[in-house]
Amino acid sequence: MTRRDTLEDETGKKLPAMTVFSLSIEYLRKEIVDTLSNQIVDIFNVSEIGWVLTVPAIWNDAAKQFMREAAQQAGIPGKNLRLCLEPEAASIFCRHLPVSKNTKQEVESISQFSSGTKYLVLDAGGGTVDMTVHEVTDNGNLKELYKASGGALGGTKVDEAFEAFLSSIVGPVVISEFKSQHLEDYIFIFREFESKKRKPVPPTGFVTIRLSTYLFKLCKKFRKNDLKDLLPQSGYESKVKVLPDKLRLDSDIFNEFFEPTVREINSYVDNLLTESSVDGCAAILMVGGFSESSVLQKYVKSTFKHLQVIVPNEADLAVLKGAVIFGHKPTTITERICKYTYGYETTHTYSDSCNHPKGRVEKDENGDLRCYDIFITLVKAGQSVKVDEEQPKKICTPITDDQTAIGFNVYASTSTNPQFTTEDGCSLIGQLRVPISDTSSGRNHEFGISFICGGTEIVVKVVDKESGEMMLKSVDFLG
Ligand SMILES: Nc1ncnc2c1ncn2[C@@H]1O[C@H](COP(=O)(O)OP(=O)(O)OP(=O)(O)O)[C@@H](O)[C@H]1O
Ligand SMILES: [Mg+2]
Repeated sequence: MTRRDTLEDETGKKLPAMTVFSLSIEYLRKEIVDTLSNQIVDIFNVSEIGWVLTVPAIWNDAAKQFMREAAQQAGIPGKNLRLCLEPEAASIFCRHLPVSKNTKQEVESISQFSSGTKYLVLDAGGGTVDMTVHEVTDNGNLKELYKASGGALGGTKVDEAFEAFLSSIVGPVVISEFKSQHLEDYIFIFREFESKKRKPVPPTGFVTIRLSTYLFKLCKKFRKNDLKDLLPQSGYESKVKVLPDKLRLDSDIFNEFFEPTVREINSYVDNLLTESSVDGCAAILMVGGFSESSVLQKYVKSTFKHLQVIVPNEADLAVLKGAVIFGHKPTTITERICKYTYGYETTHTYSDSCNHPKGRVEKDENGDLRCYDIFITLVKAGQSVKVDEEQPKKICTPITDDQTAIGFNVYASTSTNPQFTTEDGCSLIGQLRVPISDTSSGRNHEFGISFICGGTEIVVKVVDKESGEMMLKSVDFLG
């Protein structure tokens, strides 16, 4: 992901993604400020707002930085902005829910889970399934037990399955003409589908979906047939009926739209539960809009019978409301698991005791032999890090006497013990620049560098060993 990435609209027109995101955030920012201004006229000062922007926990550092920059372009001051990881927000929200009982009179809330209880948060949204496993700590806060995992799927995959079904009947040409000539009607059909998707799917019987007359006309024009006469070729003849302005689908066809997505979400959960660090997980907390789906709920409950499955009342708002609580008390999450091994690239002068392969040794501009591409590990994948914990300090010095800055190439690796930045699984993810304002000590000028990786964003603490000056720096992940 870079600052220059573009997005396409339905018709293929491009705009910079940064413009789309920052304008969307700006719209929301203005709405919020207007609403607040109307409600609390006198005591309200915009600069006092602490803004929280939520992002999926599975996003990488570049995507998080992208959102931060988009928010700043939208007029939210960086110092007042905090990013919050969505399943964490949902988990925090659910810890604040009142205790409730289900039909079997079992307590159905995580708010009174005692310390040591482990539970999995499944945030199933439109385009992302985002999971994290939390353990309640002694003081009632939460710590992450396994790195955030999940993938790009959710409720919109069900919409895609419906579109593929329509296309298998009328043909891709009709669908694409319909989209380009009658976009409003196309959107209408999907709204209609959305309302049916949100209702419990009947185990037997059928589901009716209203279509647009243009779709019928386009079938005539491009397929030289009535829509109902196209049905036999699609193989759906026995399961689907074409009415004058509607399609009537057997409920098992409707269920099939959910089937692959729901199965895949289940296997994500299943895989996560096999990790040893989440052994003894007691419950699954289902949040996000797609968690409201009766099909998904039924599937999760029947697969994980040994676990308590909790769906809070406002599953689709859990992230939003939890983010507000997080904004007031960001230290609720005390520990997180590092997704990657982070480090930087360095070189050092060659010595006989150095066991680096000869191929990495070259002469530098001072005539000294140096080893290149060395991966200096700052924090390891899978390691648990406390929110403000500084990783062990590394000392760095300039390579030449007149250097006015030290640049670091920051790398991430999926391995826990990478030796060289050129290994498989290592990639350059960002740059860090430490300015040297006083070059009088040349190559002897030492800087202490320590990474702080436990927050929602990585921060680097740099200490100038000569002046004693301390700086907090961000890595530039966007390039
Ligand atoms: N009752 C329901 N039954 C089935 N699906 C539902 C229901 N309510 C919402 N959805 C689906 O949930 C999805 C939206 O969920 P949500 O609002 O959590 O997504 P999001 O947070 O915007 O997206 P993401 O988390 O992927 O970035 C949509 O695909 C919508 O169709
Ligand atoms: Mg979401």
